[in-house]
Amino acid sequence: MFALPKLDYEYDSLVPHFSKEILEVHHGKHHQIYVDKLNTVMESLPAFQNKTIEELIGNLNEVPEEFRTAVKNFGGGHYNHSLFWNFLSPDGGGEPSGELIKAIVEKYGSFQQFKDEFTTRALSIFGSGWLWLMPNLSIVVSANQDSPINGGLPAPILGVDVWEHAYYIDHKYNRAEYINAWWQLVDWAGVEKRYKFYL
Ligand SMILES: [Fe+2]
Repeated sequence: MFALPKLDYEYDSLVPHFSKEILEVHHGKHHQIYVDKLNTVMESLPAFQNKTIEELIGNLNEVPEEFRTAVKNFGGGHYNHSLFWNFLSPDGGGEPSGELIKAIVEKYGSFQQFKDEFTTRALSIFGSGWLWLMPNLSIVVSANQDSPINGGLPAPILGVDVWEHAYYIDHKYNRAEYINAWWQLVDWAGVEKRYKFYL
């Protein structure tokens, strides 16, 4: 059975950038619902019950067709959100350092140019989805609860949830305001650790 991951911080630790209320709803309700629905689907898939979430959504073609979409959506919802919480820290924000900043400047010209491009891409996603930074520092979009690992790509090293449920309580329709708040929480030390893991 899959379980809602415990956060490394409290629901009110990300204030003022993310409110306690949005964490309660986004982690406590939306993410929990993905976990519950995934567990319900898994009851019909006894042969897959020992697999990790990565094995499950990274090999969707092995899942019987009638359950594949449900596993992709609920499994992806669980996987993507688990990454998302881990990308945030009450001590986050600012700029990366070390090898990561060097590589970002090499690829994008400056940290600001990278940030502008990532923000523009996040704002241009139509409907619900995710924007990811991959280990090779390319920027990848996923629709709905799809994930780069569905297609055999490695796990992203950073990403932002652009579903309205991620920001409607704090910012109503204003995704730009939310993305700006999200930048203040990015745990760059963790991003750098994952970047170096793939080098
Ligand atoms: Fe979400």
